[in-house]
Amino acid sequence: MAHILAIESSCDDTSAAVISNGQISSNCVAGQQVHEQYGGVVPELASRAHHENIIPVVHAALQQAGIGLQQLDAVAVTAGPGLMGSLLVGTSFAKGLALALNKPLLAVNHMHAHIMAHFIDEPRPTFPFLCLTVSGGHTQLVLMRHYFDFEIIGQTIDDAAGEAFDKAAKMLGLPYPGGPLIDKYAASGNASAFKFAEPNMPGFDYSFSGLKTGILYFLQKKTKENPDFIAQNLADLCASIQATIIRILLNKATAALRQHGLTRLAIAGGVSANSGLRAALKALAAKDGWELFVPEFQYCTDNAGMIAMAAHYQYEQGIFADQSLVPDPRLSLTAAVAAKTIS
Ligand code: KG4
Ligand code: ZN
Repeated sequence: MAHILAIESSCDDTSAAVISNGQISSNCVAGQQVHEQYGGVVPELASRAHHENIIPVVHAALQQAGIGLQQLDAVAVTAGPGLMGSLLVGTSFAKGLALALNKPLLAVNHMHAHIMAHFIDEPRPTFPFLCLTVSGGHTQLVLMRHYFDFEIIGQTIDDAAGEAFDKAAKMLGLPYPGGPLIDKYAASGNASAFKFAEPNMPGFDYSFSGLKTGILYFLQKKTKENPDFIAQNLADLCASIQATIIRILLNKATAALRQHGLTRLAIAGGVSANSGLRAALKALAAKDGWELFVPEFQYCTDNAGMIAMAAHYQYEQGIFADQSLVPDPRLSLTAAVAAKTIS
């Protein structure tokens, strides 16, 4: 039985998980409240908080799994993409631990891991399937042929879907991260109260910066006429903005499913926690006759469980890193298969 400890520290969550023979036995996450007051993640503060959190979080993950350090067979860590300072805390810690234990090191790609979260629990998607990865930093449509055989068939050319949620929330005066708050207020609002222009992008690529500007100009105009406009219409604004983002996401995803003759759609990343997106997808899947896969809530936003799952497959395939590992803030998804293969 192989036990792997996985560490995730790419953005503002410090997380550690243990996986034993493909079964997650713990997944501990320490969030960072310090960024709320700044309206976004402050990289230097994130690194410092990771520093404080990493030992207690690893300790908790091992304890919950009932595993001692000496029983570990490998140490896995997010190598990118993410914030350099944040990634450095995780990779330095993992390299040090692997060296001290004389165990192999596994370098995991954060975006690949978001997709691998689908293999943690049943029902698992069978290949091939389309994965819509929607996080704070990325929006990608990935055609998955196998664990390490995939193709990005569409992605955002500017802002990510999560950024669209967070920036819209900021304009509405909501604290960071605003995505979950828009979700919450949208539940009691009218989604057709306000109309926002949708981008006209060719192929399967996305763009969200036009929507952001559209919302900004709309709010500026309305608050000039009535300074209380936002407060008086918060739920309707949240519902209308959320519905627009969901429509943009779904139009491309369903077109990609059709064009590639696929019958399975998986969603991953923080924005896949959005209840409006989940409900819209569920209804569409039932209507159009394709299968929808949504990971459990704790595996949607950043967590080490998904890193552990990706690490499990890398361990099985012999895709290891070594002490020369340097994190890459802009690591591309294709690098998920580029790590050294030792057979
Ligand atoms: O995957 P993730 O945890 O971190 C990144 O790798 O970026 O995604 C974070 C993003 C943030 O933009 C956050 O606002 C968004 O996911 N998010 C949501 C919801 N929960 C998290 N957006 C909309 N509705 C939600 N319920
Ligand atoms: Zn993420």
